Amino acid sequence: MKRKTILVTGSSGLIGSEAVEYFDRQDHVVIGMDNNMRRVFFGPPGDTTWNLERLRAVTRNFVPCDIDIRDAMRIREIFKKHRFDLIVHCAAQPSHDKARDIPTLDFEVNALGTVNLLEATRQHCPEAAFVFLSTNKVYGDAPNEIPMEELATRYDYARPEHFAGVDETCRIDRTLHSLFGASKAAADIVAQEYGRYFNMNVGVFRGGCLTGPSHSGVELHGFLSYLAKVALSGATYSVFGYQGKQVRDNIHSYDVVRAIDEFSENPRPGEVYNLGGGRANSVSIREAISRIEQIAGCKVSWRYVAEARKGDHVCYISNLTKFKSHYPRWEITRNLDVILEEIVAAQRTQPAQTPAH
Ligand SMILES: NC(=O)c1ccc[n+]([C@@H]2O[C@H](COP(=O)([O-])OP(=O)(O)OC[C@H]3O[C@@H](n4cnc5c(N)ncnc54)[C@H](O)[C@@H]3O)[C@@H](O)[C@H]2O)c1
Repeated sequence: MKRKTILVTGSSGLIGSEAVEYFDRQDHVVIGMDNNMRRVFFGPPGDTTWNLERLRAVTRNFVPCDIDIRDAMRIREIFKKHRFDLIVHCAAQPSHDKARDIPTLDFEVNALGTVNLLEATRQHCPEAAFVFLSTNKVYGDAPNEIPMEELATRYDYARPEHFAGVDETCRIDRTLHSLFGASKAAADIVAQEYGRYFNMNVGVFRGGCLTGPSHSGVELHGFLSYLAKVALSGATYSVFGYQGKQVRDNIHSYDVVRAIDEFSENPRPGEVYNLGGGRANSVSIREAISRIEQIAGCKVSWRYVAEARKGDHVCYISNLTKFKSHYPRWEITRNLDVILEEIVAAQRTQPAQTPAH
């Protein structure tokens, strides 16, 4: 196998760190780009230094760089120094709710940062594969137009034709995105354009709930990780609206990186894929609380806030048919119980960061 040189942005975050470990294990050279901006967005509980230290300890060919993806000049320097075969772009302001407090910063990081990386790729290694981690929030609240029914512990799609979930034909405009959804949609469209207009090997993955043990979970981002953190610390979890019956589909960071690897081996320029845990890995907040209580062996204290988060999805399940048909070797390898067990185990060993609520 050819030894590749791979750039991972957001390398201390959930998906970035999984990508670093995965490609390092295959003996590729991995350059990481992360300036710990998650701490700027979310304060000390968002600090990713612990994860960077962990990566330094477990990797062999990983070179981390403290570079801001808004800084086009420093990005160019890195691209002049290395000829990348693959760029995995995970750095972002990742929170729907946080973006309303920092609209300019959110747009600069999510949209401008992405253009900086795409343009550096075009200038220096146009044949490289480039994977952009987009989000299901590019669909805004359009998925809420799907007819739903309220069940005992969750909402679900009311009609069989929607059972497999939301596919890539869902519209992305004329919908309420949140400013985060809008900045990611801008980046998503630009990334597609580098694929279609310049015929570069760019793939866009619209994530459902991406999760795993390496998340620095905070209330505003990292649902299951934060829930496990609250459960173990004895703090109180806030459930916002929909009686806690809103549904998310959860995918382990390892399965996300496996999908990135499949795409990079056989890229399709400008393609867009929904990527989440699918129906089998879907769970409502109420159901997640019960399962975490069983796994962690403790009662979760939670309070109900009647007002839902603005633009929140009532039931979102990623339809994985397109990705599976293009990359039939790929499958979900970690079910929800395995994911939750890993997250709870990791929370027991991570440095204690008591949640604010
Ligand atoms: N986690 C999810 O549920 C989810 C869902 C859908 C889409 N996504 C997308 O997947 C990607 C990865 O998400 P994640 O959960 O790993 O996020 P994360 O917050 O865990 O990781 C992102 C990393 O990027 C770094 N970063 C932020 N701004 C930066 C900047 N200006 N320069 C350099 N580094 C910067 C942060 O410090 C952090 O370590 C993001 O693009 C996110 O929008 C995530």
